[in-house]
Amino acid sequence: MYRVLRALGFRLDPERAHRLALRAVRLARPYPRRRRRFEVAPVEVLGLRFRNPIGLAAGYDKDGSAWKALAALGFGHIEVGTVTPRQQSGSPRPRVHRLREQGALVNRMGFPSAGSEAVARRLDSKRPGGVVLGVSIGPNADTPADARVDDYLQLIDRFAPLADYLAVNVSSPNTPALRALEDSLGPLLQTLAERRDDWVGRLGRPLPLVVKLSPDSDALEGSIRDAESAGADGFIVGNTTIARPGVAESLPGGLSGAPLGPIALDRLRRAVITTRLPVIASGGVMTPDDVVERLATGAALVQLYTGLVYAGPGLLKRSLERLGG
Ligand SMILES: Cc1cc2nc3c(=O)[nH]c(=O)nc-3n(C[C@H](O)[C@H](O)[C@H](O)COP(=O)(O)O)c2cc1C
Repeated sequence: MYRVLRALGFRLDPERAHRLALRAVRLARPYPRRRRRFEVAPVEVLGLRFRNPIGLAAGYDKDGSAWKALAALGFGHIEVGTVTPRQQSGSPRPRVHRLREQGALVNRMGFPSAGSEAVARRLDSKRPGGVVLGVSIGPNADTPADARVDDYLQLIDRFAPLADYLAVNVSSPNTPALRALEDSLGPLLQTLAERRDDWVGRLGRPLPLVVKLSPDSDALEGSIRDAESAGADGFIVGNTTIARPGVAESLPGGLSGAPLGPIALDRLRRAVITTRLPVIASGGVMTPDDVVERLATGAALVQLYTGLVYAGPGLLKRSLERLGG
């Protein structure tokens, strides 16, 4: 079934196909009575209970318009966003390209976002099936570099009461100079963790801050140690890459999918020996075997994105079956 839909969808511009896919998931809105089969290998991570270790990566539901319907597909967690404080339209289109032969995408979305107010209105405290809701936060493109910390603080204030965890995105390759923040993660995280601590006092529950890292930085271990000492609770390893491993295509933007797999796996290995904090695997997870391999390598959770574009929701279903068997 997904093959037919995919053949149709792949005739469209990737972003348009994605919008239709989100709409289809919302309309199909699967049924709570099937919920129980989503309780597969539940884990306690970041002080939160995940009904299974497989989540939806950031960027799929940027504006939180379909998170409950996506949760009903069976994900253990959904990461909405990346959300910016103010609405912004992102890079000019076309800005997502399929590399079909390689099972990859190249995107330079540049954080199109409905803005924090609009997204916050779509979130609430209901958690269908016990899904965990993360919100990925990032600065507006036109916020000057020295004011970006204020954007993150504003986003913490807006989403602390609504999210189960917050993902600090310092690793999109498509917002100018964003990745420079990775070089000074200590001071940034210290400021953000203080604000988070205020909220934890007020909310009376944990509010983990995880940091999403780039696969391209030379300073992975240093960044992890700095962020950990400053109060981070975990890491997502990692975002799309500006490298083009075995890919002749030179379109600008971040590469995701199969060619990113070996790089992401290597970074995951390095991350899990550097920190005892939970590491969430993202990058090149295209098959149930990839899910199993990431977990065996030490990932606490695994996130999907490009694998879903190529294999459809069957990837989640088959992966859960593998983990449950
Ligand atoms: C079209 C597109 C948009 C994305 N947008 C975001 C985003 O807003 N925030 C973010 O942290 N990651 C974003 N990502 C990165 C994914 O969350 C994921 O980390 C990356 O694609 C690697 O995983 P994959 O190879 O399984 O796709 C995006 C990826 C794609 C393909």
